[in-house]
Amino acid sequence: MKKVVITGAAGFIGVNLVRYLLEKTSWSITGLDALKDSANSRSLLGLDPTRFNLVIHDLCTSDGLKDIVSGHDVVIHLAAETHNDNSLRDPSPFIHSNVMGTYNLLEVVRDLGIRLHHVSTDEVFGDLPLQGNSKFTELSPYNPSSPYSATKAASDHLVRAWVRSFGINATISNCSNNYGPYQNVEKFIPRQITNILTGEKPKLYGQGLNVRDWIHVDDHADALMLIIEKGVRGETYLIGTNNELSNKYVLEIILDTAGLGRSQFEEVPDRAGHDLRYAIDNSKLCSELKWQAPSRDFKVEISKLFNWYDINKDWWAPKKEIIEQNYASEGS
Ligand code: DAU
Repeated sequence: MKKVVITGAAGFIGVNLVRYLLEKTSWSITGLDALKDSANSRSLLGLDPTRFNLVIHDLCTSDGLKDIVSGHDVVIHLAAETHNDNSLRDPSPFIHSNVMGTYNLLEVVRDLGIRLHHVSTDEVFGDLPLQGNSKFTELSPYNPSSPYSATKAASDHLVRAWVRSFGINATISNCSNNYGPYQNVEKFIPRQITNILTGEKPKLYGQGLNVRDWIHVDDHADALMLIIEKGVRGETYLIGTNNELSNKYVLEIILDTAGLGRSQFEEVPDRAGHDLRYAIDNSKLCSELKWQAPSRDFKVEISKLFNWYDINKDWWAPKKEIIEQNYASEGS
């Protein structure tokens, strides 16, 4: 049985990863979270207290961190500021959490000799042309576009440097866009679903031609579990399930699910520096660690997700108004 720390346990991927690991393994988990804006401790209610406990701690504070991490076998590092639009409004929290937070954690795992898995994003590679079949691989050059992706790239570089210079036992994964329950309503899919549920029109940046490679958050959790068990020290693995879709197409699926006409949305000004296309080549994960990328019916999953947000209004409604006020102040 493993004893695991998950940083960012109250965020979207963290919550789903905690739930996935409690179901699929016998591991015991310490969730660590600063409970900032994008986190929601209510997502962790009802979990088995003999196998999960939540510690409220901000990684920007190194005091006390060693005591929390000590006694565990592995740390899975998800804690980060993650929303591009927020990073364009104010990059400062991204520098603190994503760079300083990772630095503080690296020093602790170095000191304690504990294995680390660092969870990162495909956005560190910048974007791909809209036309063509090119994909990101583990060898793609780093070329981040936004303050968010630049700070994630910085954190990846720190992890690599700590592996090489200090010999820590760490792996890195870079994943594509996740969807699933408990995702903050500032992000694309939950924003459109909850706009419809509150009588607002969905908002599409520009013409919606940008392409994202959508993966269900449980499939991301599945790949992370495999990397924790079989990943090789110092290696990076890209995670994706070959599901490239334009924003316009995803929005049409959401509108169809809601029984609305396909023109029932508003085009709003485009995001500054908006990455055109992301696509993941997952062949290293599949060939070296024998991951079998699950296949899902995206329309069915969107319909399940629509129901989840419909049923769980209490979870998202308190944050919706302020998030929409921020968007509205920028005309988006
Ligand atoms: O690729 C992985 C990344 O995916 C993660 O590292 C990020 O944390 C995550 O936020 C996501 O980044 P994106 O910027 O792609 O996700 P977002 O949900 O913000 O937007 C998805 C696409 O939808 C993007 O092309 C912008 C567009 N969009 C977004 C919003 C919020 C809209 O058209 N309308 C919107 O209202």
